[in-house]
Amino acid sequence: MTASKRQAESKPVVLVCRRLLPAGRERLEARCEIRDGGLEASPEDLLALAPGAAAIVADPTVPVEEELLDAAGERLRVVANYAVGYDNVDLDACRRRGVAVTNTPGVLTNATAELALALTLAAARRMSEAEAALRNGRWAGWDPGDLLGLELSGATFGVVGMGRIGRRYAELVTPLAGAILYTSRSPKRDVERDLGASRVTTEELLAGADVVSLHVPASPETVGLIGANELEAMRPHAILVNTARGPLVDAGALARALREDVIGGAGLDVYENEPEVPPELRNAPRCVLLPHIGSATTRARDAMAVLVADNVLAVLDGTEPPNRVV
Ligand code: DGY
Repeated sequence: MTASKRQAESKPVVLVCRRLLPAGRERLEARCEIRDGGLEASPEDLLALAPGAAAIVADPTVPVEEELLDAAGERLRVVANYAVGYDNVDLDACRRRGVAVTNTPGVLTNATAELALALTLAAARRMSEAEAALRNGRWAGWDPGDLLGLELSGATFGVVGMGRIGRRYAELVTPLAGAILYTSRSPKRDVERDLGASRVTTEELLAGADVVSLHVPASPETVGLIGANELEAMRPHAILVNTARGPLVDAGALARALREDVIGGAGLDVYENEPEVPPELRNAPRCVLLPHIGSATTRARDAMAVLVADNVLAVLDGTEPPNRVV
């Protein structure tokens, strides 16, 4: 066996389940052997590629559960999620095996909050419907009663979850806001002081806000957070924005609420079973639908890739990874 072959064989194997952008990939390539699943990889493909992997690079589309962890086997040291959310990873299963789990917080805060702002404006001004009418040749000229939307200057913004992204969203809407209400497990004195935001109960937020924007992770406590009752509790002109995770919102109830004018509109970037989007939502009025692009800026996705690589390398080096979840 040649020396270079021996060296290649001794490199730790990193399974990149789908795609890692070059900014992170190049850091790993220098020290690891990379096995690629690719964007089309099926769960079976990943099981076949996993044996012997020291690290798994996953993302929100890749369930990391017992089966994949078992397939990787005893060499596995870290699951590095290419996302801030990690609801796709079975944390207990990783804990039981002594496998670290990491994520990519911070670097996508601006991108995601900016997209939530874009969705807020787009839903309030019915931009998808308006553009579709124009593109489909249905625009018959200026009409004083057509496509009337919600004016946001002076509006009350409701921020559900005042973590990094919720806070950045609150900062971005501050120039428009008449008031900012928020929910959070603990009071955020800095946000109250800096932005004049008021911590309220979920009921108070739903009843008082003109815009309700969700910024909590998916967890057993938050799944189904917004269902038929919560939509009924919102103001009839209010806009619901979800850039967090699909399971927070009951899609069927939301589609009904839009059809029956229970709320004013919605802007969604995330869905329960992506890439499936429930047909009732596709057909719902006053609804802007985007394909999970919250963090999709070059700056954010490159920085996330770098964090993924840094987390993997830190664990493989036996040092504390910068973004440990488990
Ligand atoms: C995340 O990071 O959790 C987003 O949903 C994907 O960027």
